[in-house]
Amino acid sequence: MGDLSNRVALVTGGASGIGAETCRTLAEEGATVVIGDIQDNQSEALAKTLGNGSFYLHLDVASENEWRSVIDEIVKRCGRLDVLVNNAGIGGRAGNIENTSVEEWDRVNAVNVDGVFLGCKYAIAAMKRSGPGKEKSRGSIVNISSIAGIVGSAGPCAYTAGKGAVRLMSKAIAMECAEKGYDIRVNSVHPGGIDTPILEPLYRHFGKEKAQAFVGSMHPMNRMGEPRDIAEAVLFLASERSKFMTGSEIVVDGGVTAGAAKRFDFVRLNK
Ligand SMILES: NC(=O)c1ccc[n+]([C@@H]2O[C@H](COP(=O)([O-])OP(=O)(O)OC[C@H]3O[C@@H](n4cnc5c(N)ncnc54)[C@H](O)[C@@H]3O)[C@@H](O)[C@H]2O)c1
Repeated sequence: MGDLSNRVALVTGGASGIGAETCRTLAEEGATVVIGDIQDNQSEALAKTLGNGSFYLHLDVASENEWRSVIDEIVKRCGRLDVLVNNAGIGGRAGNIENTSVEEWDRVNAVNVDGVFLGCKYAIAAMKRSGPGKEKSRGSIVNISSIAGIVGSAGPCAYTAGKGAVRLMSKAIAMECAEKGYDIRVNSVHPGGIDTPILEPLYRHFGKEKAQAFVGSMHPMNRMGEPRDIAEAVLFLASERSKFMTGSEIVVDGGVTAGAAKRFDFVRLNK
């Protein structure tokens, strides 16, 4: 028996990186995991390895219609939704305020911000009927922001703005759920540099070893994190072990945001 036995968890962006490791971690604790992603083959293959009746549903998080049908399908198949991990995200081009186009701003934030908003909106409707006897609400929503949602850095303007929005959106929705008496908690997680495919454009441009060493050196612990480091924080927030936490944030960043000694920005990589 794990911490999430008999629970149903939807993980967006579950095909790759932090999301894939989160799917494995939640499934190890007994959850039926639903992977929501746009990478069909990779997601189907992962779902087969998870056990507990886990499965994949195609979900573009920027699409309101797809959110509606995915949540309906989960409730139809499982009768409930207990956990939502809003993890899907894209890095976007490393644009600053002067060279970021409106199109790029919209493209990044359609996934990173609208996706989280829509996820919370439709998951809460299902979680309101997921408590004991289904007449009560129960649920945990974990939104993956970033250290970019806490401190600014020269460079990724649209990404930083979006991750900041996710941080405060989480707190606002947490307050609303508490106010309404729903037993639905909403928290955010803020990773530092984690070795996942989201950094591949950087790896391609500068060479993998150089980029990894540089990103690692921006952390006081002098290394990058692993997807499991983030998945463990998600598991804690998803489970009853964090039952008195809502509107909180967990920073998992090797110390980046704890001090001002090291600058976390990609501009220096060019030098
Ligand atoms: N890796 C890092 O250093 C880091 C640091 C801070 C925050 N994050 C955040 O962690 C989250 C996971 O990123 P990752 O590093 O694992 O990257 P990743 O590229 O490995 O995974 C992202 C996943 O999101 C999916 N995705 C992209 N657009 C989607 C859409 N429209 N609908 C559904 N799924 C979509 C991708 O297919 C992929 O499976 C993101 O929100 C990212 O911003 C990552």
